[in-house]
Amino acid sequence: MKTSFVLATAVGLASAFPGMAGINMKEEGMKMLKERHDAEQQEKRQLGDVLDGVGDLVGGLLDDVKGLLGSVASAVDPDNKRPEPGYEFQAPKKGDSRGPCPALNTLANHGYLPRDGYVSFDQILEATARGFNMGADLATVLGVFTTLTDANITEQSWYLGSSPEHLGGLNRHDTVEADISPNREDYYLGCGDNHHLSSRLFKQNVALAAQNPSKEFDFETMGNQFAMNADFSLKNNPFIYYFPFPSIVSVVAYNFYPQFFSNGTFGAGGVANYESISSILGAKLNKKTGEFQYVPERFPDNWYRRATPYGAVQALTEGFTGIYPYNPVPMPIPQIGTDNFSPQTLLCDIYNGINSITPLALGGALEQTGDTISWAVQKLIDVGLDATTLGCPKNSISPNFKLYPNKKQKGGPLRLPRSQYRWTGSNKYNRVYFTEAPTQPMCKHVSKP
Ligand code: HEM
Repeated sequence: MKTSFVLATAVGLASAFPGMAGINMKEEGMKMLKERHDAEQQEKRQLGDVLDGVGDLVGGLLDDVKGLLGSVASAVDPDNKRPEPGYEFQAPKKGDSRGPCPALNTLANHGYLPRDGYVSFDQILEATARGFNMGADLATVLGVFTTLTDANITEQSWYLGSSPEHLGGLNRHDTVEADISPNREDYYLGCGDNHHLSSRLFKQNVALAAQNPSKEFDFETMGNQFAMNADFSLKNNPFIYYFPFPSIVSVVAYNFYPQFFSNGTFGAGGVANYESISSILGAKLNKKTGEFQYVPERFPDNWYRRATPYGAVQALTEGFTGIYPYNPVPMPIPQIGTDNFSPQTLLCDIYNGINSITPLALGGALEQTGDTISWAVQKLIDVGLDATTLGCPKNSISPNFKLYPNKKQKGGPLRLPRSQYRWTGSNKYNRVYFTEAPTQPMCKHVSKP
């Protein structure tokens, strides 16, 4: 079953990107995926051994971390050094909002975004380009979807974590935030905590980097992290959520590790090393306990952003060729496994998705719905992602302005169980989260450093 799915994906990708990076995807891609599948069970057993050894032994983890240090980027342009003068690190103050995105948290901690963590669409576009060289189309797609689902629409602004009332913001599950994240637990299994760095997941990630000959957080390491996280979620989370848009974000977030967090340009002398990743992720090893404390995210010393923009098409291509085939979790994206699967059809799905969702802040006015959707579509057109260029049919939306009719009922979004409500607020740092794997909802999962 899995083999045929992998092969079907390979066929689709092969036809979709015939000349990608000079590789004949049809033959080499199929062969690569088949070999990978054949080695899968064997590989997983080996990974299990590595993790058993590393997870339990502090000494082993220390050795791994030491083995991952020391590489420096080559061929960097001094103009790309970050942070620039005037953008010094400051830890977030009480009340500042931070959430699941390590990059946006880093940008806020350095003042590229407002330090209180309430950010606007335009600020996001500028800061993600300046801090990390994210392409305008990719930042626009992310920003538009977030504005529609997590934001105060009239201000086109949102919280990096959640609002003081624990509403909206990037912490909001099932919108942009999804399950099977690289280093955050699933919303359900984490008892609503989908945004703090999980110590046990990062230990797994470090172990995978350590057993990779490159010793980097490259595509192989992150693909294996995806494979293991997907297995875990499929096995343990009965409410796993893999709706197209957030699931696409969750897949491409794995390639963001090498492509954005490397010191220098990945693939052109840049290195996805432990110093860079752990600093931007806010992971600080406690050498006594062997656990990772979650500390405020920051640019590492002597760090250079990538030199060229990384945009939507490359991100989708690499996510679905370099990460997803490691463990293709079924997604309700109809083109997967067919000849029609390509970055364009994925972008078209996203475009249609934007037309089909109801904005979070819909207070009631039909007019406001129309205005908001027009705003979103116009933003996409501005970066060349309109329906015509993507080949999507023009779409229309049926307004639904009673999003949560029973929102104040027990269990509704404004009356969550107390244990879960606690975890939906913005990040709290200098603690350790999830030393154990949550095989069922784990509400007690925080310890002192
Ligand atoms: C442009 C606006 C952005 C928005 C709205 C956004 C939003 C998010 C959200 C909601 C998540 C959680 C996803 C999940 O549950 O798996 C996330 C995770 C992530 N984001 Fe962003 N993000 C943005 C920009 C960036 C940029 C510029 C980078 C890299 C430089 C980045 C890197 C990541 C990574 C690596 C994760 C995964 C974290 C983990 O679980 O390990 N994001 N982002």
